[in-house]
Amino acid sequence: MSNTNSSFLNSLKGILLTVVGIVVVLLLQHFVFSLKSQPQTSNTEIEKRIQPLASVVITPLPKQPSTAVTTTEATASAQNKVSDTTSTSSGTKESVASNDNTQVGKKTFEAICTGCHSSGALGAPKFGNKKDWAPRIAQGINALYHSAINGKNSMPAKGGNPSLTDAEVKAAVDYMVTAAK
Ligand code: HEC
Repeated sequence: MSNTNSSFLNSLKGILLTVVGIVVVLLLQHFVFSLKSQPQTSNTEIEKRIQPLASVVITPLPKQPSTAVTTTEATASAQNKVSDTTSTSSGTKESVASNDNTQVGKKTFEAICTGCHSSGALGAPKFGNKKDWAPRIAQGINALYHSAINGKNSMPAKGGNPSLTDAEVKAAVDYMVTAAK
């Protein structure tokens, strides 16, 4: 009986060891697979969740300084326009003195020369703008007559109207020069 008992116990131990061995191997496999697979999926998931959040935070930042610059530029140009119009109106008041030459000059200016000299188109010295006219006036009135009658760069001869007499053109030059003094 003792022999059969011990052989039965031995075979039982063998079965138990085999079962334990299989369980250990299965547990190790599961542990190794979970180590390999878990960090990979979690990394890609984190990257997917972070990417859209990061792009939303970054894009609005460069827009803020650019809008600030354009608003300061707009106010600066608005201030320039205000100073231009005030200088024009003061120039008109100064040229009230009326004689025939002034009337001819005014008519000629309003018919022809205003097209460029009121707006400053093509870089023309603006009517009544002392800054624009000071270096021109410094050339002497005869140089200005000559430029107005014969043309200069973008300034066409007689303002592009050859039917004007020299006297009319000179009167218009006098009118603009007086307004800018
Ligand atoms: C088509 C546009 C235009 C018209 C019209 C025009 N001008 Fe001009 N004028 C100019 C421009 C541009 C200049 C600046 C030329 C330069 O110095 O390069 C100028 C400059 C002048 C100057 C300064 C010249 C100098 O030597 O510095 C006088 C004076 C002048 N114009 C008179 C007149 C008179 C008078 C009329 C009308 C009969 C007239 N302009 C019509 C565009 C025009």
